[in-house]
Amino acid sequence: MCEGCNCNDERLEKIKEVIKECNGDKSQLIHVLNEVQELYGYIPTYVQKVISEELDIPMAEIYGVITFYSRFSLEPKGKYNVSVCLGTACYVKGSQGVLDKVKEILGIDVGQVTKDGKFSIESTRCVGACGLAPVMTVNSDVYGNMDPSKVKEILAKYE
Ligand code: FES
Repeated sequence: MCEGCNCNDERLEKIKEVIKECNGDKSQLIHVLNEVQELYGYIPTYVQKVISEELDIPMAEIYGVITFYSRFSLEPKGKYNVSVCLGTACYVKGSQGVLDKVKEILGIDVGQVTKDGKFSIESTRCVGACGLAPVMTVNSDVYGNMDPSKVKEILAKYE
């Protein structure tokens, strides 16, 4: 699939169907974005344009909704998304060191995906598990009481 012309983009066809079912109801925007996130793993700009045209919602408004909800992503994520909490409770217990270790092992920065598409890294604010600080998650798996020395072994489980 090439981003320029979107040829053979079956996912886009599916999204167009979802939009059609909305019958122009702009309040269905989040429903549509959920479908896009589910299908693509993120919300590509060219899909935002299609939604904007079909539902007659300004791009800025769509962007605002995407960035408001943490479940939506503007960047592609790896098969395994590693997230390190930099909220206060985690930060004071050394989560920055955990994040640095993840970056070092995977060889990528926050917001990037490894070349094989397997891992991506993000940093988050409080994920509501402060009692387990510092917290790292890999997709929905939660690892508490983290320490940089534990990172390598945990990531190896997902290799
Ligand atoms: S600050 Fe990290 S879980 Fe609350």
